[in-house]
Formats: sequence, structure tokens, C-alpha cells
Amino acid sequence: MFSQLKLKISSIVRETGKDTDEKLQSICELLKETVPYYDWVGFYFRNGDKEELKLGPYAGAPTDHTIIPFGKGICGQVAVSNQNFVVPDVTAQDNYIACSITVKAEIVVPLFVNDKNIGQIDIDSNTPDPFSAEDERFLEYINREVAQLF
Ligand code: SME
Repeated sequence: MFSQLKLKISSIVRETGKDTDEKLQSICELLKETVPYYDWVGFYFRNGDKEELKLGPYAGAPTDHTIIPFGKGICGQVAVSNQNFVVPDVTAQDNYIACSITVKAEIVVPLFVNDKNIGQIDIDSNTPDPFSAEDERFLEYINREVAQLF
């Protein structure tokens, strides 16, 4: 599944006639539709020079959390740590921002452009403990591809 998706994502990134947000939107939708345990897929980006993240394109239920201060929640922690954050069980996290009561697990992988953390891909799952190292490598690949758009 991931090897086919990688090809599709690379071709979305290289498509002509679509702007960056449209490409990111297509990637979110493709991931949500194809991977059974990806229930919400979105990109957050640093909001200018502010110490906060702003929601970019996403697929899934609308969220109230369009702005997340650095350090807050799983996303805000990744903005500061520059490390992948895999949460097998969201109820075990103190510093977590709930978007929906159906969410059981979350993975956030930072997006680097010229070694600078400019944002992240965030995935919520309604399945408990669904993410493996394979998901991390896959999402790192996506972010390397997406980085070429910036
Ligand atoms: N759960 C995230 C907030 C963003 S939503 O998942 C869309 C967090 O704790 O940072």
C-alpha cells in the first residue's frame, strides 16, 4: 500500500497547474481515503514568526484547533522537539488537545525545509495503537517530497 501511495504522492507534488495548497489537499484526501486507519489527515505550519502553528489543508472532520501554540498538545510539542511523535493511546497523554472523542491514536511528523522545522503532518486514528515504524518512514518520505514545494 505505501509503495503505491509514494508514487502517487510524488506525482501530485510534481503536477503542474495546481498550487501548493491544492496539492497538499489532494495528498490529505488520498491518504485518508487509502489508509484504513488514517481518519484525519492534515498539515500544520508555523504561523509567520509567531510561536504557534496554523492549520493548513486537511481531510476529515473540521477542527476548532486551527491555531496551536508551540508546546501545546502533540502538535505543539513536535514544533519544539523537531522529532516524530507517535501516540498509541491519546488517553495516556497529559499534554494532548482532543479534536474528536472518536480519536484513539495520533502520529505527528515534522516537515523540514533546509533543516528548518516549518510545520508537520498530523494524522489521527480511530483505531487504537495502529502506527508502526513503517508509518513513520512513509510520512517522512511524504514530508521530504512536500518540502520541495517550499
Ligand atoms: N491532537 C492534536 C491537535 C490537533 S487535532 O488532532 C487535529 C494535538 O494534541 O496537538
